[in-house]
Amino acid sequence: MAGFTHIRHVEDARQAARRRLPRGLFEYIDRGAEDEVSIAGNRAKLDAIELAPSVLIDVTRRGAAAEIFGVGQPSPLIIAPTAVAGLVWHDGEIALARAAARSGIPFCVSTQSITSIERIAAESGARLWFQLYVWKNRERTLALIDRAAKAGAEALVLTVDTAVGPTREYNLRNGFGIPLKASWRAGIDVVRHPRWAVGVMLRALTTSGVPTYAHYPDEFRTRLGRAALSTEVDLAPDVTWNDVRLLRERWKGKLILKGILTVADAKTALSHGVDGIVVSNHGARNLDCAPGPTDMLPAIVAAVGDRMEILADSGVRRGADIARFIALGAKGVMIGRATLYGVAIGGADGAGHVLDILHQQLSATMGLLGANRLGDIRLA
Ligand code: FNR
Ligand code: LAC
Repeated sequence: MAGFTHIRHVEDARQAARRRLPRGLFEYIDRGAEDEVSIAGNRAKLDAIELAPSVLIDVTRRGAAAEIFGVGQPSPLIIAPTAVAGLVWHDGEIALARAAARSGIPFCVSTQSITSIERIAAESGARLWFQLYVWKNRERTLALIDRAAKAGAEALVLTVDTAVGPTREYNLRNGFGIPLKASWRAGIDVVRHPRWAVGVMLRALTTSGVPTYAHYPDEFRTRLGRAALSTEVDLAPDVTWNDVRLLRERWKGKLILKGILTVADAKTALSHGVDGIVVSNHGARNLDCAPGPTDMLPAIVAAVGDRMEILADSGVRRGADIARFIALGAKGVMIGRATLYGVAIGGADGAGHVLDILHQQLSATMGLLGANRLGDIRLA
């Protein structure tokens, strides 16, 4: 894409996003939790995984085609659910979904999306998954998943690694939180990033109004500038396997648990009729003493990989990282921050450019490994 020739890898997109977004928003996206030990850990662990090159193989016709839940797609990627993607670009979730559609991969809509799944479905044509955070009011939660089913979501992704809010001190320092609070610091931050102020905030104010969480019940819809109106839609700290049972009864599509990190939990998920799991530490944004998904994947794949779909995420910045997750046994890989940086700098084209970069890098890595198919990628 001509407009992005200066963006050659994900780090270039990250630096460009850092310049464009208010600091509070950029740090919310980019950073981790507490002392950010897990962010560094995810990187170091991925870097330590070496893959075995096989030489003198004709790799002319190599391809990264994957099959996830029986559906073929040109690559093993899924765009991860990320709250408030609609704050980094006007209608950012629609932009991400369009980029996913162009790449032939699913887009997972977050419960905390700024744009509703109905609008995303109507305006993107993407294959959609829906990520669920369970609200204290379970009836309303079930009504939400019914809404997602009606909008055509193929899979329900219950996030299980966020029982309570994580500790992220930089958000407090930056005055960044949802609902957004007006402060001098935040005001100066916005004024210093005029492209974002005009292209996202002003545009929202002059079209759809103050950005809100689109999936929250109308009567509780929190204008981002106001305090929450009801604790009914607070995230529930008492979500248990019983909720998984209830969701399994209600949800007819694929059910995925996101944020599993032990063999025991993977087995329990299987016994609850769950179709797949995402082995993930939430991009190192929550538990700062969590293991890396790469530490846990091989044992989880060995235990349940023949009976459920195992996906993974956290820390992908290069095509080689995708290859590493695949080598450890993941069938699909979710991308969180990388495509968010892309959408922040150029909407659907920016996110599409980042996906293209990742695909090209994966293809180059496979060529150098002598791997014609994902299944040929092996650990050294
Ligand atoms: C997230 N993630 C996330 N996960 C989830 O289940 N529901 C959500 O609403 C969010 N929100 C969210 C916001 C932002 C800004 C980020 C960066 C991430 C986690 C996400 O789905 C995924 O697990 C990680 O982002 C994967 O790690 P990488 O690819 O960002 O390193
Ligand atoms: C996050 C939550 C929203 O990672 O999942 O910020």
